[in-house]
Amino acid sequence: MRQAVQKLWPELDWITDPELREQVARTWIKGFEMSPLTPADLDEIPFTLLVPDCPVTFMQHKRCVVWIAKRAAEAMRECMADALPIDLDTVVAGAILIDVGKLLEYEKVKGETRQSQRGRSLRHPFTGVALAMMCGVPDPICHIIAAHSHEGDLVQRSVEAEIIHHADFMSFLPFKNLAK
Ligand SMILES: [Fe+2]
Repeated sequence: MRQAVQKLWPELDWITDPELREQVARTWIKGFEMSPLTPADLDEIPFTLLVPDCPVTFMQHKRCVVWIAKRAAEAMRECMADALPIDLDTVVAGAILIDVGKLLEYEKVKGETRQSQRGRSLRHPFTGVALAMMCGVPDPICHIIAAHSHEGDLVQRSVEAEIIHHADFMSFLPFKNLAK
C-alpha cells in the first residue's frame, strides 16, 4: 500500500521534514485501510459529485490543488518577503491531505461513485481530521483539513489554510459554474 500511495502522490517528496512526510503518507494508508475504494479508483472517479459527468478525476484535481497552493505560497513569499510568514511544508502536507477523508465519504456501487451512509453523516473534512490525528499529523495541518471547505467558513483560517482553500475552490468552482 505504501508504494501505491507514493505512486499516487509524487508530491510527497516536496515535504522536506521526513517525519511529516511519513505522517502524511501514513494518513493515506490508514484511509485506504478503512475505505471501500482502492488507489486505482482515484484515477477514475470524479473529483466531485456536484458536477454531472465531471471530466476531471479525483487525482488530477487533487494534485492540481497541491501544485497551485505550492506555487501561490512561493509567489507570496517571494513578493512579500517576511511580511507574511508561510510554512511551505505545511502548505504541501495540508494540500495533499485535504480530501483524504473522501476515502470514507465515497463508495462505488455498480460502477457509480456516490456518497456513502457514513459520508452523509460525516463529510470528508471531519473524517480527514480523524484519520490525520490517528497518524500524528500536527494540529496546524489538521486545521487546514478541517477548514478547507465551506465547513471552514466560520473558522479564522491560517494563512496556509487560506491559500489551500482558494487553490481548491479556484479549480472547482469553474466546473460547477459551467454545469449550471
Ligand atoms: Fe474537499
